[in-house]
Amino acid sequence: MKVEVERTQTGIPGFDALCNGGIPKGSLIVLSGDPGSGKTIFCLQFLHNGVVDFNEPGVYISLEETKEEILNTGSVFGWDFRKLIQDHKIEVNTIELYDFDKLRDAIEDTVARIDAKRVVIDPGVIFRLYFERELDARKRILGLGKMLKRIGATSVITNEISLNKESSLYGLEEYVADGVILLYHTKVDDRFVRSTAILKMRNTKIAERLHPIEITPNGILVASNKDLFEQV
Ligand SMILES: Nc1ncnc2c1ncn2[C@@H]1O[C@H](COP(=O)(O)OP(=O)(O)OP(=O)(O)O)[C@@H](O)[C@H]1O
Ligand SMILES: [Mg+2]
Repeated sequence: MKVEVERTQTGIPGFDALCNGGIPKGSLIVLSGDPGSGKTIFCLQFLHNGVVDFNEPGVYISLEETKEEILNTGSVFGWDFRKLIQDHKIEVNTIELYDFDKLRDAIEDTVARIDAKRVVIDPGVIFRLYFERELDARKRILGLGKMLKRIGATSVITNEISLNKESSLYGLEEYVADGVILLYHTKVDDRFVRSTAILKMRNTKIAERLHPIEITPNGILVASNKDLFEQV
């Protein structure tokens, strides 16, 4: 008997069609892209849509930007996170990574407090800066990934890919993550073209091409049925 996989729709226009209707519920996704490729906007849109369209509370753990900065980025796109926080539908916490146990506890507590179904940790690449010993970093991030899967929310950790550098987040993509989503900022002739691709998504038929995206005044938009280079 075939069992339908329950899915968490991102609600990002055009995106869910690329992964069979959404991200399998409860899975852990690494969202990788170069600087300025739209990772933070993707995360905010995922959380905002979660509450507004699907009544799913969400938690944003910022490892870098202040709460104020995050909320302001949301406002640019018309997402009123302040109101959603008042309504106990969203929590935004900035956490210094040096206290790793605090990070883990804060995530567990916050998720339980508002019964969050979506969790974002951004930018996960900060892990690279905080741990001197690679083995330490690897153990901690893989442990964090497992914890996120255990609590059952659909989670997104962002990572930065830059040329000439190791791109994996200490093996998280290969071993623990259920999915890897890429945001590209590709140079074509004399301009950059934004695009997205899904590299991996367990239990899901995925679109196997790059798809162009736009960052509009309403957030990210995926032109899911156009080939990247038709537009150029
Ligand atoms: N209102 C807007 N309309 C169109 N594009 C915008 C708007 N606001 C921001 N952008 C684009 O979004 C990009 C930043 O997106 P975002 O902050 O999500 O990227 P990021 O991948 O998180 O970057 P970082 O690596 O700095 O964390 C900017 O470089 C800008 O080009
Ligand atoms: Mg960012």
